[in-house]
Amino acid sequence: MDAPGLGRAGYQPADDDGRAARRWWDGHAEEYLDEHGDDLGVAEFRWCPEGLREDEAGLLGDLDGRRVLEVGAGAAQCTRWLRARGVDAVASDVSAGMLAAARRLDAVAGTTTPLLQADARRLPLADDAVDVVFTAYGAIPFVPDADAVHREVARVLRPGGRWVFAVTHPVRWAFPDDPGERGLTATRSYFDRTPYVEVDDDGAVAYAEYHRTVGDHVRGVTAAGLRLVDVVEPEWPPDNGRTWGGWSPLRGARIPGTAVFVARSEPPGA
Ligand SMILES: C[S@@+](CC[C@H](N)C(=O)[O-])C[C@H]1O[C@@H](n2cnc3c(N)ncnc32)[C@H](O)[C@@H]1O
Repeated sequence: MDAPGLGRAGYQPADDDGRAARRWWDGHAEEYLDEHGDDLGVAEFRWCPEGLREDEAGLLGDLDGRRVLEVGAGAAQCTRWLRARGVDAVASDVSAGMLAAARRLDAVAGTTTPLLQADARRLPLADDAVDVVFTAYGAIPFVPDADAVHREVARVLRPGGRWVFAVTHPVRWAFPDDPGERGLTATRSYFDRTPYVEVDDDGAVAYAEYHRTVGDHVRGVTAAGLRLVDVVEPEWPPDNGRTWGGWSPLRGARIPGTAVFVARSEPPGA
């Protein structure tokens, strides 16, 4: 993730409970979409910069008659794609700025996507309310307590439901976030969980991204009572010549850039 510098930036402890994310995404929604809007589209469902599309991957399973919730949805491109296919899907995000951007995309598309402003750690939904929850790079990287997201997802999922989340592949944290040659040499320990943090001129955390190892993600999912069924590591397709921040064809040919975790809520008696 590339974020415009707002002061001191680097790997450092963060005095942050995840609230910095809301302010940052409110303030940078338009800038983010100016930079990445062409890649994200208006009503397209891509899991990651590698370009893996839900219509080819089918990671959400059969959605016929299912209720679907996207958390950390940003401008709701994925939910919009699902709804165009008749899926009962709702997009949620903590940032009013990103949801305002979702409304603007709705105006372009001529759609009315159901939007819910909510922190993925505190969803205003009843227990067992939905069949599928997913996010493509939303919420989890931006909170210090991802376990709280997994617990909340487990609560709102009906037994047998599915939780699918895409994050930066944990191995990437050992490398500089650089799409070029420099990004091919590991310079940090994969095991160092120190977050990437930007601090504003007043010393407050303006932006924070949190590193978890593969094992951390697995333990977060299973501690919430969910069963991990797959970890998808999309390969960089030869026809994808795009660069997105630190993701590029050069690096994609050598090291994974995305991990998509697929988990299930255990049905009773399983
Ligand atoms: C990289 S965007 C992902 C959204 C979309 N898939 C995209 O690629 O643009 C990250 C999103 O996560 C949201 N987010 C950050 N922390 C969150 C939280 N605690 N709960 C819900 N959403 C959160 C941000 O507001 C932002 O819209």
